[in-house]
Amino acid sequence: MLTLQALLTRHSTPTRQLAAPGPGDAQLLAMLQTAVHVPDHGKRVPFRFLRIAGDARQRLADAAEARLRVLEPATGDAVMEKLRIRFTLPPVTIAVIAKLGDDEKIPASERFSSACCVAFQLLLAAQAEGFGAQWLTGWPAHDRGFLEHTLGLTSDEQLVGTIAIGTATLAVPERERPQAGALLADWPPTP
Ligand SMILES: Cc1cc2nc3c(=O)[nH]c(=O)nc-3n(C[C@H](O)[C@H](O)[C@H](O)COP(=O)(O)O)c2cc1C
Repeated sequence: MLTLQALLTRHSTPTRQLAAPGPGDAQLLAMLQTAVHVPDHGKRVPFRFLRIAGDARQRLADAAEARLRVLEPATGDAVMEKLRIRFTLPPVTIAVIAKLGDDEKIPASERFSSACCVAFQLLLAAQAEGFGAQWLTGWPAHDRGFLEHTLGLTSDEQLVGTIAIGTATLAVPERERPQAGALLADWPPTP
């Protein structure tokens, strides 16, 4: 049963606080099945996933480090370590990819929105299964070299983000949230 109270407990877990165990194969597939249960204008299914787990985590960290050394040769050790940890600490990372080729009817922005819903729903699914998770982007989500040569995206695809999933090692303190009432106005505005 979907309740507001349950949805209000949603929160991310910082990737540095994620550890093994992660979901098993069947459990991960069930979470991904939940994640694709999203609004999708025109039923285009404008998304796909990549799983990074096991030894692939180290390999991706190595590739990301090598790419950042090319992009920003002066990058310090702390930044580099943070980058590596992003891929090596979580037992599993799911890259959510938006497929945005030409479409006569549905604008790319709408298809990207659908793919963003997938990423968000995956966060919810992870939490529902008792895991912590975090949506990350940063330069790896925007550098075409990394996206196409390392992750294997086509030129029509964008990385919505990587979703790090694992067992939370600490309780995450709740952060201040916007007050919806302050964001709400009626239309037409009262003169
Ligand atoms: C599109 C998107 C990209 C994000 N990228 C990063 C990121 O690269 N690094 C980061 O620390 N947080 C990033 N965040 C924020 C975290 O995913 C998360 O929202 C934050 O830790 C606050 O937790 P909360 O979801 O409980 O509010 C991103 C969020 C979104 C929606």
